[in-house]
Amino acid sequence: MAAADTFEIGGRAYNIIDHTYDVVVVGAGGSGLRATMGAAEAGLKTANISKVFPTRSHTVAAQGGIAASLGNNTPDHWSWHMYDTVKGSDWLGDQDAIEYMVREAPHAVYELEHAGVPFSRNDDGTIYQRPFGGHMQNMGEGPPVQRTCAAADRTGHAMLHALYQQSLKYDADFFIEYFAIDLIMKDGKCVGVIAMCLDDGTIHRFRAQGVVLATGGYGRCYYTATSAHTCTGDGGGMVLRQGLPLQDMEFVQFHPTGIYGAGVLITEGARGEGGYLTNSEGERFMERYAPSAKDLASRDVVSRSMALEMREGRGVGADGDHIYLHLDHIDPKVLAERLPGITESGKIFAGVDLTRQPLPVTPTVHYNMGGIPCNYHGEVIAGDPNDPEKIVPGLFAVGEAACVSVHGANRLGSNSLIDLVVFGRATGFRLKETIKSGANQDELPTDSAEMALTRLDHFRHADGSSPTARVREEMQKAMQAHCAVFRDSALLSEGVEKLKQVNKRMEDIHVSDRSLIWNSDLVETLELDNLMAQANVTIASAENRKESRGAHAHEDFPERDDAKWMKHTIATFDGWGGKGGKVDIGYRPVHEFTLTDDIKYIEPKKRVY
Ligand code: FUM
Repeated sequence: MAAADTFEIGGRAYNIIDHTYDVVVVGAGGSGLRATMGAAEAGLKTANISKVFPTRSHTVAAQGGIAASLGNNTPDHWSWHMYDTVKGSDWLGDQDAIEYMVREAPHAVYELEHAGVPFSRNDDGTIYQRPFGGHMQNMGEGPPVQRTCAAADRTGHAMLHALYQQSLKYDADFFIEYFAIDLIMKDGKCVGVIAMCLDDGTIHRFRAQGVVLATGGYGRCYYTATSAHTCTGDGGGMVLRQGLPLQDMEFVQFHPTGIYGAGVLITEGARGEGGYLTNSEGERFMERYAPSAKDLASRDVVSRSMALEMREGRGVGADGDHIYLHLDHIDPKVLAERLPGITESGKIFAGVDLTRQPLPVTPTVHYNMGGIPCNYHGEVIAGDPNDPEKIVPGLFAVGEAACVSVHGANRLGSNSLIDLVVFGRATGFRLKETIKSGANQDELPTDSAEMALTRLDHFRHADGSSPTARVREEMQKAMQAHCAVFRDSALLSEGVEKLKQVNKRMEDIHVSDRSLIWNSDLVETLELDNLMAQANVTIASAENRKESRGAHAHEDFPERDDAKWMKHTIATFDGWGGKGGKVDIGYRPVHEFTLTDDIKYIEPKKRVY
């Protein structure tokens, strides 16, 4: 590395420190670490840039487990996993990518086991697998399958440690507590990224043959979410600023069991181990909504059922605004062994002893099905209407930041961790195939740092009258009110206008700390800028889709409409700096074909659990 350049703006000089790598991965959650490990293992000089210490990335919060058809606890087959994932996606998932994921899943899990993930065990020493919502036997016809491989209820945490250690073993370099600001593009190709070291404010320009965005979801554009405060969709923001689209952003998952009032996740593994939900009448109401799968129906179905119970006056508590989750009938030894983390969370965040009392829960924003469109090699799709599969050279996306799309309109629980490792691994393979270690790289464009530093300097000196936290709260409350479990035309169109107005407030933002040393005020503002764009794109995409599918429950269009809406939304944004807030919407075809002839395209049908 070498200090190579100075950028001046408004009389202020920013020194830029240059780095050259074969591959730069932004983000150190499960997918970013798996891609980092793969690229480094392939002999590519690899850097990972992360705004938090890798083992504190949001994957640490993933509790219940990782889906793969190992068949350790019940019979299973990859084609059953494929059927469940297609059905769970409400047929919006791309079936070639889904086939890839479910077939590679067992390999990816055994690799994790060999990398050191301390999975819970069956008596015969095999990996313990638990039931999870929407995962069934025999192409949806049989009883629940035990497909979710678990390390107690701390699976994500265990994965992060193993993947970080492996990445270090293969000599990847980590730039920890660095905030990636913007991509560097040249003639439509991604050639690097600009980042700031949070500790000392130095600016770093990374030149690379391949840039992988593994920046996670953007759950924090809502007021209550299981997502960490760091889940601000920084990769999605960077992509939108390049005029590239995001895909299927209207599909936001509400996890049925966030702790009421705190939003903290209570794993679906709790229901997998026998937990159940009741209303104010003590009724196990899921038996009415999903007679076969009951409490283990898919998340969108369970969350909607809970919302309906509350709306019809059968919620619990003084305001009837939550539901009870019961685990008090389960042997405390089983709780201690398989669900120790949530037993502790119940005590800390709800003051409840799960072995004796029900836990107050409510549907809580948990996951973004939408994100940066890409194929199953992790290559980012450009959004060219004449060539829907055209890629952006040099740019990759993985994990929740990406939309492959395997989850379509609704993701099944435990399909997120498997998505992270399968596609992080696939991206490693693609990088190995397409990048030659140490190859000469083009000169960077002369304006390579301009976009990032102009934005940084603008917010650093923003002198309006609205503190970042206030504008962020307005955005979060507007999203919570207008784009939740149930939506209708009036609510959504009002929401679109409200979000445009909130976006305008970015013109009036006030940052009080002008320094570059650990300036959390500035970083939160850059994060808000990323969130704001994605909140606007999400609500505009939701307003545009006139049907109900998966997590998008539109009360004026209650049925799925395959004739008109079996297509991916792709949307761009041009409202930066508070201007306009205009969202342009187009479409991409859903892949109505499989990867191989081993399985036929799974034809759409009504989704009943
Ligand atoms: O419920 C859970 O443990 C969450 C898992 C997931 O989102 O896949």
